[in-house]
Amino acid sequence: MGGFWGSWRRLLGFVLIVLMSAAIPAVGRFVVEKNSLMVTAPSDMRGKHDSAIGNFGIPQYGGSMSGTVVYPKDNHMACDEFSSSFRTKPGAMPTFLLVDRGDCVFAKKVWNAQNAGASAVLVVDNTNEPLITMDLPHEDDEAAKYILNVSIPSALIDKKFGEDLKKAVASGEMVNVNLDWREAVPHPDERVEYELWTNSNDECGAKCDMLMEFTKDFKGAAQLLEKGGFSQFTPHYITWYCPEAFLLSKQCKSQCINHGRYCAPDPEQDFSTGYDGKDVVVENLRQLCVFRVANESKKPWNWWDYVTDFHIRCPMKEKKYNKECADSVIKSLGLDANKIGKCMGDPNEDADNPILKEEQDAQIGKGSRGDVTILPTLIVNNRQYRGKLEKKAVLKAICSGFEETTEPAACLSDDIETNECLDNNGGCWKDKVSNITACKDTFRGRVCECPLFNGVQFKGDGYSHCEAMGPGRCRINNGGCWQENRNGSTFSACQESEDHKCQCPPGFTGDGIKNCEDIDECTEKKACQCPECSCKNTWGDYECTCTGDLLYIKEHDTCISKKVVEARATWAAVWIILIVLAAIAGGAYMVYKYRLRSYMDSEIRAIMAQYMPLDSQNEVPSHSHEENHI
Ligand SMILES: *[C@@H]1O[C@H](CO)[C@@H](O)[C@H](O)[C@H]1NC(C)=O
Ligand SMILES: *[C@@H]1O[C@H](CO)[C@@H](O)[C@H](O)[C@H]1NC(C)=O
Ligand SMILES: *[C@@H]1O[C@H](CO)[C@@H](O)[C@H](O)[C@H]1NC(C)=O
Ligand SMILES: *[C@@H]1O[C@H](CO)[C@@H](O)[C@H](O)[C@H]1NC(C)=O
Repeated sequence: MGGFWGSWRRLLGFVLIVLMSAAIPAVGRFVVEKNSLMVTAPSDMRGKHDSAIGNFGIPQYGGSMSGTVVYPKDNHMACDEFSSSFRTKPGAMPTFLLVDRGDCVFAKKVWNAQNAGASAVLVVDNTNEPLITMDLPHEDDEAAKYILNVSIPSALIDKKFGEDLKKAVASGEMVNVNLDWREAVPHPDERVEYELWTNSNDECGAKCDMLMEFTKDFKGAAQLLEKGGFSQFTPHYITWYCPEAFLLSKQCKSQCINHGRYCAPDPEQDFSTGYDGKDVVVENLRQLCVFRVANESKKPWNWWDYVTDFHIRCPMKEKKYNKECADSVIKSLGLDANKIGKCMGDPNEDADNPILKEEQDAQIGKGSRGDVTILPTLIVNNRQYRGKLEKKAVLKAICSGFEETTEPAACLSDDIETNECLDNNGGCWKDKVSNITACKDTFRGRVCECPLFNGVQFKGDGYSHCEAMGPGRCRINNGGCWQENRNGSTFSACQESEDHKCQCPPGFTGDGIKNCEDIDECTEKKACQCPECSCKNTWGDYECTCTGDLLYIKEHDTCISKKVVEARATWAAVWIILIVLAAIAGGAYMVYKYRLRSYMDSEIRAIMAQYMPLDSQNEVPSHSHEENHI
């Protein structure tokens, strides 16, 4: 990079500079996202304190976590691996490890604490100052290895509060705290607005890879949320401008478009080879225009398809990061290439590009949101997101932007489950036979809610009791009723039509739940008792036969002569024949009547036609009409 970059940096001052690898410390207004840390014990310390959410790890957006504060005996800065374990026994409160700021990067402290079994980390500031955000170390290859694996939340607390906590712990008191992220994301309405500041460059190493991985992973959820009208997503791209003094430099020429107005760093940070910053700006502009055009046609989610497809099909490594490749992606997605081209304008023009101008303006912070200086940056409901750029964590943050109970299904899906159901089934109802459970992991923690299983709704309190209700309920565990299969025939006491009801089927008696006993119709003299009858009980039924020529009629529970039956049958046949004959006769008569009528009609018409012109003949003079009346 050398002296050129150094002098440039000094020159820029407040100018929006963003470098993808962020080798240069970010300038601008940086808003610290706070969450509240509540001390619940000891009682003389009770109260709320601010803490700043770390920019890595996984904050429990939408949730809260209680724990016991532990201050390590040595390794206070947590820069070395801990020899002791802070893992708590199941059922005990999680450990909030208190560590001191300094000597090593924040992420390393949190990593060491996580490995020692801590559930969260509170870093005590070492100077009296307003809270800052603990960020990722930049360009630290050693750190890059473990940062992606940091999964516990962390927060910075101020020096005074930290010292108070240490004192309380040292005096042997049990110090309990509660870290609350419930208000970390405001929820002004039922739609969550979020924006991702991103970049099409795919050659900037770990950070670019992470961003792309995230885009691919998150695409499905993003599209679901957008299609359901639950969210409004806007992608953004950072550019900076070339200071006037350098407008004619080789560097600005290779990195900027529109005569130095919009620039991006060289992808390889080597001006002499490969792609130039300019190529990145143009592709960023194209992606912005893809979004604009897709948004206009009410399909803003197409942006996710374009960006992921472009990344897969047009990578810099394969020398395909160019317009031709981009156009083929646009075409295969059925997007309007003309409109996109028009939106992009001419990159060689010495004039503002309205789209990129808007992006530069948007980089400046407003309200509760600071300047955007770091890539990638995610902003949810106008608050900067802190934490890992990873599907589960981001979805959690977006979901916490919904009021409780208005969150869409994507927020309640398996993707962001908390796994609390694995432990003792979350204390919810569970059917011991079928393992159907009322426990549902959601990003807010587990809920006990009677499930919908195989299309059958369960109802109940969800904790101690759930019961299949309504249509199909007998399919589930036979509705909790008696059921038995013997010798190929099955009887069930479940009544589809009535909830709660188990009733032994006809031929059985019992409570319907545990047992139904076959009724012996023969010995109990329930049926087949006529003098000619001979009774044989079967399971769930009976068989009755009659002596001699007689036939058993079940409905009347009696034996009658076969002749009577036959006679009845004969009569029935006669009746049917008579009815059919009558119908045929009736039909024939109707046809006859109709034919006769049309025959007569035509006869009459023929006769009358001889005397007068009929309507069907045209141009009847009116006087002749009168004559005909006479
Ligand atoms: C981080 O996690 C990945 C996969 O879970 C694992 O392969 C890797 O070894 C972990 N890295 C460290 C430093 O523990
Ligand atoms: C996208 O469209 C919506 C309305 O359909 C509009 O409110 C929003 O501002 C548009 N976004 C951009 C970046 O044009
Ligand atoms: C239910 O869970 C138990 C224990 O986890 C297991 O042994 C059993 O096979 C499961 N039953 C079904 C129907 O999945
Ligand atoms: C099973 O059914 C067959 C004929 O369908 C019958 O012969 C046999 O006795 C029955 N067995 C029992 C145990 O009911």
